[in-house]
Amino acid sequence: MNALRAAFRRGFDRFERVFDPLFGPDWNPLGNLGQLGWYLFWIVTLTGVYLFIFFDTGVTDAYASLQWISGDLWWHAGLTRSLHRYASDLLIVVMLIHILREWVYDRYRGHRWFSWVTGVPILWFVYMSGITGYWLVWDKLAQYVATTTTEFLDALPFFAEPIARNFLTPEMLSSRFFTLMVFLHIAIPLLMLLMMWIHLQRITQAQTRPPRGLSILTLVALVVVSYVYPAQSQAPADLATVPAVIGLDWIILGLYPLLNILPAGVIWTSVLAITILMFGIPWLPPRKENPAAVVDLDNCNGCTRCVADCPYTAITMVARTDDAPFRREALVDPDRCVSCGICMGACPSSMPFRSDENLITGIDLPHRSLNDLRTEVNAIGALPKDGSGGRVLTFACEHGSGNQPAEGRISVACIGQIPPSMLDYVLSRDIADGIALAGCSERDCQHRLGVEITKARIARERDPYLRKRVPRERLLTVWAGPSERGKLPGRIAEFSDKLKAMGPFEKKSKKGHKLPLPTTDAPGETVKPNQEVGE
Ligand code: HEM
Ligand code: SF4
Ligand code: SF4
Repeated sequence: MNALRAAFRRGFDRFERVFDPLFGPDWNPLGNLGQLGWYLFWIVTLTGVYLFIFFDTGVTDAYASLQWISGDLWWHAGLTRSLHRYASDLLIVVMLIHILREWVYDRYRGHRWFSWVTGVPILWFVYMSGITGYWLVWDKLAQYVATTTTEFLDALPFFAEPIARNFLTPEMLSSRFFTLMVFLHIAIPLLMLLMMWIHLQRITQAQTRPPRGLSILTLVALVVVSYVYPAQSQAPADLATVPAVIGLDWIILGLYPLLNILPAGVIWTSVLAITILMFGIPWLPPRKENPAAVVDLDNCNGCTRCVADCPYTAITMVARTDDAPFRREALVDPDRCVSCGICMGACPSSMPFRSDENLITGIDLPHRSLNDLRTEVNAIGALPKDGSGGRVLTFACEHGSGNQPAEGRISVACIGQIPPSMLDYVLSRDIADGIALAGCSERDCQHRLGVEITKARIARERDPYLRKRVPRERLLTVWAGPSERGKLPGRIAEFSDKLKAMGPFEKKSKKGHKLPLPTTDAPGETVKPNQEVGE
């Protein structure tokens, strides 16, 4: 299974890189699948509402109203009808790639199970909305969908009378079922919206809007396709004839021919088995989790930075349980924590300059602590210096292109685990002449926010800021996935040459740092421990 996943991963990584130069990492559609799903959902909803102004919900008049929409009203309602259809198709395609991608990148197991499990009902809701939508057209295709679906439902022992009977002869046709379909076609997307909201409840700052450029491109593409291939009805439904499978929308109704071939029992068993399998996938097999982050109250001033940076809503602020003069303290929910360490990088107590032999910070990863990192950094500093001025120390995320051991490389759970003061420490203690930060690719941080947060800390847009005195030209950032492994040594060698040309780093300050104390513990106010030094 792991080999299959790794092969898929390489495939995704390479394929996505083709889009990077075309769209840039921010606009890359494959890095924005969930966001595109939301966007398409809203397009489908708004176009659906507009269509309902002109659509006649009676079984005998529905077809005629759609002919009117695609005929006389083609330039607005007709266009809207096509947009509604093509956005629904694209939504399914985007959702299927989104599911595959989350599986391939292993973002659904262990403590990340929640988004996966809450995604499964969405999958069925999307298909049910599409099927009921085709029913409403009441053309030959709708007749085929209606008879096939009702025969399939009749295989269940729930209905006193076979519901397929409604579609046997024209005399038996009633509006009853049609009205139910109209109701379902509106109710299911509402349920889906609720589920989509729940789907994001365990992730922080979930992105539900694609970048503007990508949204405009998607809309333009949909409008163009809608003009070139306007959605049309087939011949009107005629219950006096047996419907043939013609002009299927293979994206939404692609499995329908199977319903005609295989016995209903086999299909129902398969649907049930696939659903159970989908729900169970996060535990097949369960992921071996690293221990959750741990708060040390002696070093926690209740500043809330860790809450703001945790990508998985695993930290809450609660009333203080010790005698410290602060109102709140951080509390980690071990069932949500994925041990990414981003909170450790955010904590003002994560100061490697402190003289304590065993460095303890406010919130730390037991399996990859700040103290471990400092010890490894110091060990690299103890290596003999060649005097060339080109020594590079690399902090490498275990999910990115630097996921293999190498000389001068320190592995971290996520690039966001590095507190900015660690960069200051390395340079001001002359441990290296430059630092490389090797994280995941920009569009695709394994821990969602690690790359973005690191960039913001360096740019001094987000607490904790990297001090101004740290020369940015001595920092190299490499955002690349594991399939770009070959790229990293070359980038580091180039950087090392650049450092040599720059000459040795002149330290401006060697001042040690003390454990920062907050100036206030007022809610929402954060502490900026770095501000008093070198600024
Ligand atoms: C129309 C349907 C769907 C939409 C609109 C949607 C949307 C999203 C969005 C916006 C995110 C968050 C991206 C981010 O900001 O990091 C996300 C994450 C995710 N989704 Fe979906 N999703 C859909 C269906 C599904 C389905 C069917 C599954 C699986 C059965 C699924 C599994 C996941 C997983 C595993 C994550 C990652 C959570 C994490 O990073 O821990 N999604 N989805
Ligand atoms: S960042 Fe550190 S000091 Fe601030 S609340 Fe979290 S653990 Fe406490
Ligand atoms: S390690 Fe910290 S930031 Fe990462 S999930 Fe756990 S509590 Fe959140």
